[in-house]
Amino acid sequence: MPETDEFERVQQTVQWLDDRIDESPEIAMVLGSGLGALADELADATAFSYGDIPNYPVSAVEGHAGELVFGRLEGRPVVVMSGRVHYYEGWSAKEVTLPMRTFGQLGIERTLITNSAGGVNPDFSPGDLMVISDHLNLTGTNPLRGLNDERFGPRFPDMSDAYTEDLRSIVHAAAARLDIDLQQGVYAGMAGPSYETPAEIRMLQTLGADAVGMSTVPEAIVANHMGMEVVGISCITNFAAGLGNEKLDHEDVKRVAAEIRDTFATLVKAITTDI
Ligand code: HPA
Repeated sequence: MPETDEFERVQQTVQWLDDRIDESPEIAMVLGSGLGALADELADATAFSYGDIPNYPVSAVEGHAGELVFGRLEGRPVVVMSGRVHYYEGWSAKEVTLPMRTFGQLGIERTLITNSAGGVNPDFSPGDLMVISDHLNLTGTNPLRGLNDERFGPRFPDMSDAYTEDLRSIVHAAAARLDIDLQQGVYAGMAGPSYETPAEIRMLQTLGADAVGMSTVPEAIVANHMGMEVVGISCITNFAAGLGNEKLDHEDVKRVAAEIRDTFATLVKAITTDI
């Protein structure tokens, strides 16, 4: 069975983290643009700058703090990635997913992946939250491309329940209890970094997408490869290109994400208790 350097690299990172934490997390959370503030709410927190963690990719994009924080949320041991690197920065899909590999090798079985996304479904508005039911990988790549290392998972992993129905129903139940409006839909993952054209958004509508963004898909693929259960939440920060009157601007994306941050945090905390 072919083995890869990737496994050794991940092991090195896992060892480094293991030596510095007291408790194994049960849930890994990846917080997208403008949503990272939740990391400040962890009790008994131990934070590491990505730059200090061996092999960790470090983002240069504004608005992405770049800290891995271990601690407790609602009493549950969690690890939170505040900020992430993106494929459009020039990292390979494997480099982008090294943190998720690390979570899998730490023995974490569940992950919450969040992002900011454009609303492709005409019924969506900025400020909506959407639980991801499925994705379209339109990035043009796949983090599993290359030799497969069976120590991570199988050559051809099943993706038919990539965002598990069980976890999705927990999110819906929590939202209903808290009276938080929650959309559900398909996330189209693009390579970026240019936003889509209106013609591309019409194409995505035809393909059955409800939201569009530039992250999450590589991480969800790798998590599934390792047999982790994934739950995904998109914060709809803008009408996708051609659907609103405004031009798309990263400042607006960050502003809307910040506006919904408290509701988002309330929902995430409720999910944390239940999953
Ligand atoms: N397109 C792609 N990525 C995004 C968008 C968008 O409209 N909004 C936030 N991230």
